Amino acid sequence: MRTELLAVVDELKRLREEGVGSVAVSQEALDGLRAAVAARQAETGPAIEVPASGGISEDAAPSPAPARAPRRAYSEPSTDSGERATGIVLPGTEPAAPAKKAAPAASPAFGRSSQAAGPSAPGLPDFVKPIPAPTPFTLPGGDKQSRWDWLKDKVMNDPVCREHVKPGKKLVLGVGSLDADIFFCGEAPGADEETQGEPFVGAAGQLLTKIISAMGLKREQVYIGNIMNWRPEHDKPFGNRKPVEVEMAYCLPHLKAQIEIVQPKVIVALGSTAVDGLFGYGQGAGIRRKRGSWRDFNGIPAIITFHPSYLLHQGSPQVKRQVWEDMLAVMDKTGMPISDKQRGYFQ
Ligand code: URA
Repeated sequence: MRTELLAVVDELKRLREEGVGSVAVSQEALDGLRAAVAARQAETGPAIEVPASGGISEDAAPSPAPARAPRRAYSEPSTDSGERATGIVLPGTEPAAPAKKAAPAASPAFGRSSQAAGPSAPGLPDFVKPIPAPTPFTLPGGDKQSRWDWLKDKVMNDPVCREHVKPGKKLVLGVGSLDADIFFCGEAPGADEETQGEPFVGAAGQLLTKIISAMGLKREQVYIGNIMNWRPEHDKPFGNRKPVEVEMAYCLPHLKAQIEIVQPKVIVALGSTAVDGLFGYGQGAGIRRKRGSWRDFNGIPAIITFHPSYLLHQGSPQVKRQVWEDMLAVMDKTGMPISDKQRGYFQ
């Protein structure tokens, strides 16, 4: 039961990170949760409180892994679009720390990092092997394809990357046109992606492909990459874990090298982890307020928008329209024709 409960908590945490403020919970499910929480409390002492209102809230957070330091409970940050989520407040989902600094200016060497790494890396689960700071590298000269082939070979043979992929699963580098105007940047491979070795091929990927085609493009005409080259390991039967800073720092040089090769006109940061990776850890906080805004990534305009999986979970017409407006802005910025029909989608 503990495993299932932790899996539910993880999924709720993930939804929250994607911006979902509340979820509908049936009375039956609520009763089941209360029973599970009561059983857990009997084992470990007072922890989660499941109120009668239908939401899950919490004043005193439990530590799902009792061996670790206790986690602090927190309320939905009111800085995010001024709203407070009334539905769920979860354990251990403290808002990301304020930005330390923006991404450094372009450097000929990828992977220069002052990132502290190792077993004590903040947030890295106990069951994940330590991750060193990335080793700086420079891309070779040559045409785009030969540079990309070199990079792919490097990533696929990188001992740290390989060490973090589950046996039988694959590392995932970006795909698409090396001459693309638009570079979509997501978070990390999920179950489908680590099986197929390609980014965005699962449910969220199918939605992204639909968005791309609504823009009048084929998937092969854009470039699609991720902050992470591997699916962050987790100890639950399902779901995904958001990567922590040290994991992102290790993979970021590879993402930056892909951007350097493709030289897109526009980068689309899909969700808060992409924003954290591209602009500095912590910058992804408050994405509801930041979406639709433009940043600069080493001279390339980058727009912040929601992750497609957020649309899958929270696909209100309003949110769909917001993402679509971001795509219209991308089309405009890249000089793509926009029909009246396209302008009116999701209105
Ligand atoms: N979500 C991501 O961010 N990237 C993928 O490749 C798949 C799902």
